[in-house]
Amino acid sequence: MGRALMTTNALATLIAEIEADPSLEEPGRLLQRIDVLDRLEADLPDVRSADPHAASIDLALCERARDVRARLEGANRAVYRSIRCGIRCGSGATPLVGWAEKHRAAGDVTTPVHGEHYDSLDVLVGGVLRLSPPGPAVGELDQEMVPYQPTPARHIFDLMDRVGLTEHDVLVDLGSGLGHVPLLVSICTDAEAVGVELQPAYVESARRCARTLNLSRAAFLQQDARETDLSAGTVFYLFTPFIGGMLRSVLDSLHVQAASRAIRVCTLGPCTPMVAEEPWLKTEDAPVTDRIAIFGSRGRA
Ligand SMILES: C[S@@+](CC[C@H](N)C(=O)[O-])C[C@H]1O[C@@H](n2cnc3c(N)ncnc32)[C@H](O)[C@@H]1O
Repeated sequence: MGRALMTTNALATLIAEIEADPSLEEPGRLLQRIDVLDRLEADLPDVRSADPHAASIDLALCERARDVRARLEGANRAVYRSIRCGIRCGSGATPLVGWAEKHRAAGDVTTPVHGEHYDSLDVLVGGVLRLSPPGPAVGELDQEMVPYQPTPARHIFDLMDRVGLTEHDVLVDLGSGLGHVPLLVSICTDAEAVGVELQPAYVESARRCARTLNLSRAAFLQQDARETDLSAGTVFYLFTPFIGGMLRSVLDSLHVQAASRAIRVCTLGPCTPMVAEEPWLKTEDAPVTDRIAIFGSRGRA
């Protein structure tokens, strides 16, 4: 069977499934809708480019595909709007945390928290935060600086669950990119959150989001993490923003902070093994690179 015919068959089956299930448009089925839209996108590479002839897809089928996609995307936008509205009024944590819990309950069966992949929770968070994607305005990075990649959303909710942030905490994301972590922390917890990021375009995008959503407890500094005053932070997060000597230098600064008060350091990715070697830090978990590791300082030096 040719590729085009296989695509058409898979697409026809998927569209028939969607059309037969009107409940898919209910607000509570957001996560299923995101998955269905993902499948639709995979089966329909040429419809978005409005060139159905290129894939020999039946025109009527194309029309039905466009129609179901528009209805499902519209239903998603309505949920995002309502969550944004709640956040602006200060009651946004409950729906967002509720969605993260639903996602986790489904994930216990299908996608565990471990891993670097993105999934439906990232689409949901993206729809709510509406961050501008990184654009050409972004400058070159030094060799030891790691280019932007966001923490998968399920890890951020995992961090918030396990760290138990309170109103006495200030979480500092060192190398905060577009700001997902500080933004979600300020929406979902009582802590303050600060993002430190070198790239001005990312900082501007994060600040714009915080302003639009009335997030008074999220702040973004356009700075080199090596030169940042870390004295207000109680929890520091690093999604491997830098490596080598740069990471060494920031770990030394964190060590200085830990000499005068208890701090926690949370990491994700390849920087975790290096952080785990720090004698002034301890952890109760076996640190792995594909789930956030949480370290506590050992007490005053
Ligand atoms: C892997 S991304 C992590 C983004 C964000 N923390 C998250 O988890 O969604 C690393 C970020 O660190 C930034 N970065 C790299 N070196 C930096 C430095 N010395 N000071 C501040 N930001 C830095 C990069 O521009 C990039 O946006």
